[in-house]
Amino acid sequence: MKKIVISTGGGDAPGLNAVIYAVVHACYRRGWEVFGSRSGYKGLLDRDELYRLQLKDVEDIYSTGGTILGSTNKGNPFAMPFENLAGEVKIIDVSDKIMKNFDRMGFDCHIAIGGDGSLEIAHRFSEKGMPVVGVPKTIDNDLEATDRTFGFDTAVSTATEALDKLHSTAKSHDRVMVVEVMGRDSGWIALYSGISGGADVILIPEVPFAMQKVCEKIMENELHEKNYSIVVVAEGAVAAGGKVVSKEGGELGRSEPLLGGIGDWVAQEVRERTGKDTRSLVLGHLQRGGSPTTFDRLLAMRFGAAAVRLVEEGVFGHMVALKSPHMGSVPLAEAIKSRKKVNLNSDKVFTAREIGICLGD
Ligand code: F6P
Repeated sequence: MKKIVISTGGGDAPGLNAVIYAVVHACYRRGWEVFGSRSGYKGLLDRDELYRLQLKDVEDIYSTGGTILGSTNKGNPFAMPFENLAGEVKIIDVSDKIMKNFDRMGFDCHIAIGGDGSLEIAHRFSEKGMPVVGVPKTIDNDLEATDRTFGFDTAVSTATEALDKLHSTAKSHDRVMVVEVMGRDSGWIALYSGISGGADVILIPEVPFAMQKVCEKIMENELHEKNYSIVVVAEGAVAAGGKVVSKEGGELGRSEPLLGGIGDWVAQEVRERTGKDTRSLVLGHLQRGGSPTTFDRLLAMRFGAAAVRLVEEGVFGHMVALKSPHMGSVPLAEAIKSRKKVNLNSDKVFTAREIGICLGD
């Protein structure tokens, strides 16, 4: 009999609930108990934020977006914002308290579902002696140690569908539509959706871009009597010699800057340089919402079941990882070492270039 606590941390991604579903079912078959910790580690700080997950709690959640446990990207227990009675906000370390509560509550293992930030926290707990198994999630697909993270396929589908819809309005008005998509410092969402959604230009962080090249492509379209263009810009894309565009004023307790604004900037440049009617839009959190695609559901469930197998085998301090077609695991220390970038010598980048998509270089 084992007692497991499960949490979801960082930005949500479609498929989180499917992992929870798989973990609860796989544990039930083994006669183990599962508890859910709300909003990351809150349940290990406050008993009211912890609850037993029974089969009925997860009955049909595998097809739903979001996370039934809630999530936060400001809940790092090693650096948590805390407001004292005088209203002063201080950053404090509550990790020892969490370690004590984990033992006191009689848990055998923690299954931490998260992106690189949450997995780094899980790794630090593992180093403190907590038996931890990590499950990789992020729409950004930027974890090097796994072929795929769940959430990515859904985000790409959402972005592709948006591009499909933008074609008709762009064409009706002879406009340039600039679409900013998520992905942080990696261009996966932009590249996959841009190719699949018939973009003329795709700008990704891995390729510093020149506005002149972007505008040349837009004007070249006119030679073929195509008077509109679709430009996909990853939020972390950077103009050659420029810097990443992010929102002013960081949120307390947040480890990453909040990216955004490059789409507007590109649209403004296109307007001024080509004289074409240009609009920009930010797809934003739409990409994180909705029901996970079949691919993401299946991957999430495979991750959940594999995580429970690791617990059974006593393999802790590891993250489950897809090494297609196999499901395996890697030490957390390795999993958080580097972020996965788009390989410029890969077939997808070649495909983009060969079908005439401008990458801004
Ligand atoms: O990491 C997932 C992600 O959606 C990024 O693509 C994006 O930059 C960031 O999270 C947005 O964070 P928030 O939900 O705090 O706005």
